[in-house]
Amino acid sequence: MIEKKFIFEPSHSDSLTEGSVTWQSPSNIALVKYWGKTDPQIPKNASISFTLSNCHTTTTLIYTPKSAPSKSFDFNVFLDGIEKQDFAPKIEEFFKRIEIYLPFITDYTFEIHTENSFPHSSGIASSASGMSALSLCLMSIQKIVDPNISESDFIEKASFLARLGSGSAARSIEGPLVVWGEHSNIFGSSDLFGIKYPDAIHQVFTTFNDTILLVDKGVKQVSSTIGHKLMLDHPFAQARFDQAKDNMSRLIPILEKGDLDAFIDIVEKEALSLHAMMMTSDPYFILMKPNTLEIIESIWAFRKSSGCHICFTLDAGANVHVLFPERDKKRVDEFIKEELAGYCQNKQFISDHVGSGAKSVAS
Ligand code: PMV
Repeated sequence: MIEKKFIFEPSHSDSLTEGSVTWQSPSNIALVKYWGKTDPQIPKNASISFTLSNCHTTTTLIYTPKSAPSKSFDFNVFLDGIEKQDFAPKIEEFFKRIEIYLPFITDYTFEIHTENSFPHSSGIASSASGMSALSLCLMSIQKIVDPNISESDFIEKASFLARLGSGSAARSIEGPLVVWGEHSNIFGSSDLFGIKYPDAIHQVFTTFNDTILLVDKGVKQVSSTIGHKLMLDHPFAQARFDQAKDNMSRLIPILEKGDLDAFIDIVEKEALSLHAMMMTSDPYFILMKPNTLEIIESIWAFRKSSGCHICFTLDAGANVHVLFPERDKKRVDEFIKEELAGYCQNKQFISDHVGSGAKSVAS
């Protein structure tokens, strides 16, 4: 399926120049999860995420016009200054998918320099922030040739391109809350790109904290690409997609009113449903580790004894995201340091909070 609206056709290509652009894009954590898709990266249900702030990827794209025309994708990719040939196939695949929308990419040789704010192989996926930052850099090159593109078209197409690199990357452009996937109760929502959550958001959610507990920093045994595929003939797939749709509808008044008890109920249910899908796939698999469960039980006990509005969510791995409002920060920080850090590899965790989206960095 080709989306005509996003095809960029420059009237002439004689204005190619060399240069570099830099974007910093945040990671995100889904509250209602995306798990299951069809080609080309069309989600089976709408998802919504908090945009993060401290966990981000910074990408500089250096572009040089090719001396002789060719139809190949010419690029080298560097992580923290070191060339990473193993990243090339994923980027080659991404370029193939987006070439129709940015035909100029074969006119240039690229150097892609990327770095993450979070520790390398921390088990935090860099694909969302990484694909978002690269897509924004490519859009900045389009803007040089097409300076009249509006801010909203620029953002929308960046999310559209990022989605083709990694589904959840579509949600890593703006903040504080982003919806990706068509939902009848969310105006403007689309399967093709993420949108800034358009409805009322209670102030409590604009300053929410997310502390990421690094339980297992190893490489996952099952990638999310495989996990999404396993949803295609999963016996509980339809019920899961219906549940996600329903949870999204229920979340709308909760986000408006700041109803933290109801928020916790949906967020934890979503995390456990995601992992229940993994455990009931064919073949089945488990990404949680014993310490993931220890942490969940400690959070439940602390919530009961302290009255703090603390809850957990999980992405496709063993790490735990601890979510809590700013007003509980002092007590929760202490609890994390004293109790939960002991379940983390080398006692490592990352304190983050809701953020406002990607930023262009002056080069
Ligand atoms: O973007 P992907 O293909 O890595 O999938 C991400 C899936 C989850 O992180 C598990 C859920 C989500 O909505 O982010």
